[in-house]
Amino acid sequence: MTDRSLLILPGDGIGPEVMAEVRKIIDWFGTRGLAFDVSEDLVGGAAYDAHGTPLTDATMAKAQEVDAVLLGAVGGPKYDVLDFSVKPERGLLRLRKEMDLYANLRPAQCFDALADFSSLKKDIVAGLDIMIIRELTSGVYFGEPRGIHTEGNERVGVNTQRYTESEIARVARSAFELARKRDNRVCSMEKANVMESGVLWRDVVQEIHDAEYPDVELSHMYADAGAMQLTRWPKQFDVIVTDNLFGDLLSDLAAMLTGSLGMLPSASLGAPMENGRPKALYEPVHGSAPDIAGQGKANPIACILSFAMALRYSFDLGDEADRVEAAVETVLADGLRTADLLGEEGMTPVSTAEMGDAIVARLAAG
Ligand code: IPM
Ligand code: MG
Repeated sequence: MTDRSLLILPGDGIGPEVMAEVRKIIDWFGTRGLAFDVSEDLVGGAAYDAHGTPLTDATMAKAQEVDAVLLGAVGGPKYDVLDFSVKPERGLLRLRKEMDLYANLRPAQCFDALADFSSLKKDIVAGLDIMIIRELTSGVYFGEPRGIHTEGNERVGVNTQRYTESEIARVARSAFELARKRDNRVCSMEKANVMESGVLWRDVVQEIHDAEYPDVELSHMYADAGAMQLTRWPKQFDVIVTDNLFGDLLSDLAAMLTGSLGMLPSASLGAPMENGRPKALYEPVHGSAPDIAGQGKANPIACILSFAMALRYSFDLGDEADRVEAAVETVLADGLRTADLLGEEGMTPVSTAEMGDAIVARLAAG
């Protein structure tokens, strides 16, 4: 018996393939006396195909009960025609909203073995280690009013950027707490030059800092300048905290600095549950990549590193998380590359499953 429960939602496209490799890691820990109580269910297009909804109430209820949800990816061209309310992405957004996962941690770390693979020069990205904290439950993704209506003889599309003080304060605290465990620096990004919600964002982040975290170094940047600085000299940052939409954009940008979207994990955390563990969902930053699905080309590392984040943030198993990360690093240093990372001379091309097997073998060896 175990008191560690996981709900696995592989989802669509390459989701099931990369999740199959995570299952190998989970099983390996199981053989070593570290068992997880794992259940699996549908989300996204897969759930829509089976139930006519991207997330059933039963799956939502299960997600609320477990210690951690692991999600693969959702979406695909086949679902583009669907109404907004049942698109695969709505399943993911419902999980984030109803679990109230307000702090989305997106590390952008450059593995030495992949520094040549970045679209930027090696010295700009080698050793890069930044953490983007994206607010995940509010802002323009959820603000009301929203919709498309008709005014006179034309259609008008409306979305609302809305943030309350408490929504800003809680994600700011997450950023400051995390910074204290890293290089103790936070840069907050908004558009206070054009948006009232940005003015409030800047004010509240500063207030929380002054009252509770004066020891942390805080700076503010407009999000557009932030994007520019991220490509110019990303190593100037430690922790970046920003809203839902800017965080969506900036985290894709930061991800690409490291060479491949197929490498980056994320954790979405909410308030602590009764057992002290935070509400939590872990997912790779990449999407469902329908163009390569089912061909063994997908890189399982982002999903495997997302499980490592679950070990660290949900189960307080930092040493085990370090071991998984070290195994990934070794396998990359050994020259193993999935299709997304091929291009350099002398590397060994491997399939999704071979990459997973190699990481398990490293864990077992080490
Ligand atoms: C992400 C994705 C999602 C988002 C989509 C799939 C709804 O781009 O997690 O970054 O926009 O938040
Ligand atoms: Mg995104």
